[in-house]
Formats: sequence, structure tokens, C-alpha cells
Amino acid sequence: MTLEELSQKAHALWRSWEEVSANLASPEDLESVRIKFLGRRGMLTQLFSALKELPASDRAEAGKILNVLKERIESALAEKRALIAAQARLAKLARERYDFSLPGKWRPLGKLHPLTQVRLEIEEIFLRLGFDVASGPEIETEYYNFEALNIGADHPARDEWDSFYLGEGTLLRTHTSPVQIRVMRTRRPPVRIICPGRCFRRDNPDATHSPVFHQVELLWVERGLTFAHLKWVIGEFVRAFFGPGYEMRFSADFFPFTEPSAQVHIRKKGTEKWLEIMGAGMVHPRVLEEVGYDPEEVTGFAFGLGIERMAMLRYGIEDIRIFWQNDVRFLQQF
Ligand code: PHE
Repeated sequence: MTLEELSQKAHALWRSWEEVSANLASPEDLESVRIKFLGRRGMLTQLFSALKELPASDRAEAGKILNVLKERIESALAEKRALIAAQARLAKLARERYDFSLPGKWRPLGKLHPLTQVRLEIEEIFLRLGFDVASGPEIETEYYNFEALNIGADHPARDEWDSFYLGEGTLLRTHTSPVQIRVMRTRRPPVRIICPGRCFRRDNPDATHSPVFHQVELLWVERGLTFAHLKWVIGEFVRAFFGPGYEMRFSADFFPFTEPSAQVHIRKKGTEKWLEIMGAGMVHPRVLEEVGYDPEEVTGFAFGLGIERMAMLRYGIEDIRIFWQNDVRFLQQF
């Protein structure tokens, strides 16, 4: 090989680099081209090995040509590498740009059960009127559930509260009225409490009966209370809970622990149908005596309402069982 031939090969090699390098697009392309030109068996490396075929006088000149070529290819490779990296970064940025018009991720929110919402609302109404919230056990003794409420063992009214007996004089409370006794036994008048809670009766489930249900009990005992005060409190409640478009009606009823006793109905003004909302009455003197109050000194009144019933009237729900089915399509509506 002559210097002339080697020089021509060097030029050819540069042209073929120029051709190839125009189409480099990825780091992998770059690497395979680098190996092809500069690798241990690469085209340029082969030219360097050809140096020894040259006459000794030409080798220095030829070596310079090859070194210049090598530097140019190396720096061109470095430039290409930087360019490809920059393009990759730009492409990544474009790919990752936020599209604010895309729909968001759906995260369903939990809610309070409608019965809980109604209970809280009722509590709030009476807290505003100055009542405390009290509570008592769901497993009661016959004494608190019946006897102290003037319902003796042989009292026919016991049949009205068909009970789940647990043995040894205990049962699942059939109403929240036993809390009246528990509160009065531990406080002196004036007493103003409401007590929301779960109650249990051996009723077969149907559209209006559930063996487990909720009541709110109210009790106010103080000097000088009359039936008029009872009517006022219930009137305030009806207005706050159902709204102004309702009228109420009291009719005679019987509970062993109140005298006189009443059943309270409401009716949307301009409609026909009366709807029962609660049982109520003046606390029976025997009940006051039982807890150590003097019926000559203080009087009181009480009522008990069903939370399910309030919710059904408020929302037009026709089957009580739906509260316990945990159907999200129902629960979501509240
Ligand atoms: N405890 C009665 C019931 O469950 C309701 C009631 C409470 C009546 C307070 C009068 C006074 O039916």
C-alpha cells in the first residue's frame, strides 16, 4: 500500500461515516456504528494496522492523516450522542405533559347511614332546646325495662313488648324508656335528657316491623311541668324536623308509665292522612316515686319515637327492611 492509496481509503472512510451518521437515531445505532468504525476490528483500526505496509518514510505522514480522521470521527460521535440524548429528553417531556382534560380517578366517598343522619339531626334539635344526650345498656334487666316503669310481671301490657329474654332476669331492651329510670336514679330534678338507642322486639320482619330498630326517648322532669309543655316541645320538634307545613293531633293512648298518655299524629296541611309519630305522656307518679322523686313536688313528661319511622316519613320510604340491606344505590341517595 502507498501513502496515496491510504489517503484515498481515509477519504472513503470519512464519506461512508458521513453517510451512516446522517441516519443515527438511538444510542444503540450510535454504539453499533462506533464499533464498525473504531472497534477492535473496525474500519479505522484496520487502516492503522495497514501503516506497517507503508514505506517507513511515509508512515509519519500517514499516521497524522489517520489520527486526524480518528479525532474527527470521535468528536462527531460525541456530538451525535449529545444530540440524541437531548432529543430523547424533549420527547419524554412532550409525552409526560399533563392533559387536564382527561377524566380524574373516581374515588367514592363514604357517607353516614340515613338512620345515623336522622339521629344526629334529632339530637341537634333537642340539644338546642337544652336537653342532654344520655344512654343506657342494650341488655337490660326486667326491673328497668318493665317493673320500674310500672309494668309488673302480670301486667297485660308486657305482651305488647314481645321480648328477647336472655335468662336470669335479663333481656334485650324493648324500648329506650328504661334509660329514664337509670337517669332519674342518678340525678336530681331538673332532668332534661334525650336518649337515642337500639331496641329489640320479637317481631317478624315486614314492611313496617324489624326485630332491631331505633328509638329516641325524651324525658323532662321539673317543678310545674304540665301537658302544655309537652305539647310545646313536640310542636317545636315537628316544626324543626318536618318543616312548617304540618299540623299535629293528640289522641288518648295507654302506657303504664305515663298518665295521661297520648299518641301523636302529624298531617301535611291540606292532605287527608294522619301519620303516627310517637307515644308520649306525663310521667306516672308511681315511676317518680320508684326513683325517689316526690310526685307532689315535681312532674315530668316523656315521649318515645322511632328513628326508622321518622326517616320513612321524611323520605317517603315504604319498607323498613331497606335500611338494613346495605344497598349502595339506596344509601347513596342521602
Ligand atoms: N316506650 C314506649 C314504646 O316503646 C314509648 C313511650 C315512651 C311512650 C315514653 C310514652 C312515653 O312504645
